[in-house]
Amino acid sequence: MSTLTLPAPAQRARPSARASIARALHPLLSPLRPLVRRGWLAESAVDACSTLLHPTWRLTRVMARVVGRQWVAPDMLAVRLQPNANWRGARPGQHVMLTVDIAGVRHSRSYSLTGTDNGRGQVLELAVRRVPGGRVSNHLIDALRPGDVVELGAPFGELQGAAPAEPGLLLLAAGSGITPLLGLARAALAAGETRPIVLLQYVRDAALQPYADALRQLAARHPNLRSAVIATGDTLQQMQAHAPSAAQLAAWLSDADAQAVRACGPAPFIEAVQSWWDGCARRGSLQVEAFTLPAAGAAASALDAARSVSVRLASGRTLQLSTAQALLPQLEAAGERPAHGCRMGICNTCACRKKSGSVRDLRNGHLQAEPDETIRLCVNAPATDLELDL
Ligand code: FES
Repeated sequence: MSTLTLPAPAQRARPSARASIARALHPLLSPLRPLVRRGWLAESAVDACSTLLHPTWRLTRVMARVVGRQWVAPDMLAVRLQPNANWRGARPGQHVMLTVDIAGVRHSRSYSLTGTDNGRGQVLELAVRRVPGGRVSNHLIDALRPGDVVELGAPFGELQGAAPAEPGLLLLAAGSGITPLLGLARAALAAGETRPIVLLQYVRDAALQPYADALRQLAARHPNLRSAVIATGDTLQQMQAHAPSAAQLAAWLSDADAQAVRACGPAPFIEAVQSWWDGCARRGSLQVEAFTLPAAGAAASALDAARSVSVRLASGRTLQLSTAQALLPQLEAAGERPAHGCRMGICNTCACRKKSGSVRDLRNGHLQAEPDETIRLCVNAPATDLELDL
């Protein structure tokens, strides 16, 4: 396995002339939209015909053609995509749902954008990490080739760069958490950012550091970028169990006062960052994203002893579910198919109306007990008997 070098942003693949023409002609489909809205035409019929003209043409759906793939770590692949004209752009630091057909079945997963085009029709980049037993990520890595077409959802995620008054940006990444933060750093530097940007990557093995070459090249071009790697030497599970302490973070980040701090990683890492932040008289802003729920032990300690409660669905079905686990995996295990996306409380795809009962947010222990509230199934566990509009 080799780690290849990402080209500099200015050298990245531009859309081919054919792709540009296809994108320019795509709006010709627009007059059909009112006909679909009035029910005179079926969108699926329009899409079936337009696909014959060009594989990415759809009336409203965002389809993207694969235009490049490149290893950025022994277990991580950067995939570059040329979206059709329905793509409305994304902010750096956001994520997107990618849908792909595998053996005739549609599968969706969320991936972080490591490069964004701001809607100008250029090339997006996202990163896919190989996951033991992972169906979609491993398929993308093993089978996706230039010319293939995938579907993208609307971008989501709230991470943002430093505010104008903040003197610098401090990025803390653990594992795959580098991906949205790299997107933030690249966009800031491409926009001419001259304030200091410090990126700390927390990895189990320095040899597995994602985007090592790209970061070296970026730092060589931008002296205001300082990048460092902290290798734990542990397995991922051990790394999650031994997240950096607040004292370690304080030692590493002694110059962080007043910085904008952005952190992304598994829940224990984010909890450590939050605790470090809470213990310091910082004057900047903190934004965090955890891509896992708190470890079972932490979640359980935040909860009462696990109990079984009744969850009644709109279909009339009643399930016995545990208070110790989020609703989404329990509903799926019971054969329900709720809509979902990121599975980490960010995209809102799993939002569902709770008609009665209480749920507890596994990320922070907060209770939601009001009737007729919208809850996110992926991060909330039932706390009492529930009635869901599902
Ligand atoms: S699946 Fe994204 S918020 Fe629940």
